[in-house]
Amino acid sequence: MKTKLTELLNIEYPIIQGAMAWVSEATLVAAVANAGATGVIALGGRDADWTRNEIRACKELTDKPFGVNLMLMAPNKDELVDVIIEEKPAFVTLGAGNPTPYIKPFQEAGIKVIPVVPSLKLAKRIQDAGADAIVVEGMEAGGHIGSQTTMSLMENILPEIDIPVVVAGSIVDGRGLAAALLMGAEGVQMGSRFLLAEECKAHQNMKEAIIKATDTDSVVTGLLSGHGGVRSLRSDFTDRYIAAETDGVTTKEERSKMSQGTNKLAAIDGDVVNGAVQVGQALNRLNAIEPAQAIVHSVINEAIMAIRKAQRFIEVI
Ligand SMILES: Cc1cc2nc3c(=O)[nH]c(=O)nc-3n(C[C@H](O)[C@H](O)[C@H](O)COP(=O)(O)O)c2cc1C
Repeated sequence: MKTKLTELLNIEYPIIQGAMAWVSEATLVAAVANAGATGVIALGGRDADWTRNEIRACKELTDKPFGVNLMLMAPNKDELVDVIIEEKPAFVTLGAGNPTPYIKPFQEAGIKVIPVVPSLKLAKRIQDAGADAIVVEGMEAGGHIGSQTTMSLMENILPEIDIPVVVAGSIVDGRGLAAALLMGAEGVQMGSRFLLAEECKAHQNMKEAIIKATDTDSVVTGLLSGHGGVRSLRSDFTDRYIAAETDGVTTKEERSKMSQGTNKLAAIDGDVVNGAVQVGQALNRLNAIEPAQAIVHSVINEAIMAIRKAQRFIEVI
């Protein structure tokens, strides 16, 4: 399947396995890359040594292109930038800060730059600054979210931007990929579906909680914090947090302390009661643990079928 994204990244299928803090590392990323899509190592919470070792480990497991994700609010971002430039993954996705100053240095090192942007205004600015592509992520996504839905982002941004736009947010199967391509996207970024990959090191309890969950089990915490919300499965933690957000007593600092480390608690320690199982809203479709290759291939086959079936709407009578 050829799009501007597959050409830009030299991959077979227009699917990026998005960065997922603590759980998207070499094993998952290489498995997705070997299946013909591409993956992103999440650097959130990681240090320079871990980053260097993980990029090297991934290169041992695949000779296909893969990326890393740098959160620009990370206190150690300068060190991480140096390591990325030295180790040269094929591309970097950038979020949580202004990506503009980093575009040229990465590109000069031969690394493609794909910022995650929340609005048309920023998309245009990032395009003008020379980014290779952008990701737009709707509020249906798992983890930290913006304020627009995937559909409104596609409507608002796709017709206005010339560089490849990758769409994310509750795209979990081939119908979602087909819809995004038909809207004018050049590819999709998927997180939640790859949480259920066999190669993903998310704790079994987290995987089972996701499989058990259905469409109404997702909540957003942190909407009052001013930094955007975080989408996870409803749990004792999210109930406590949302109560604290509305009690008029708990301070922002206290709430920030309450949420610290809760994603790792669920993803690594498997505490899905006191932790945050960050996952998107398309929960009814997340119901099996499969090898990454099976996920990639079924998404592509479903997308081809959906696009073929769509021909019926324009049959000339
Ligand atoms: C558990 C989890 C952790 C995530 N961590 C990050 C991260 O560290 N950096 C980032 O840019 N995006 C992160 N994301 C967003 C994903 O890269 C991706 O854009 C998102 O999952 C897409 O929506 P979906 O979950 O509905 O597929 C995370 C998502 C999840 C589910």
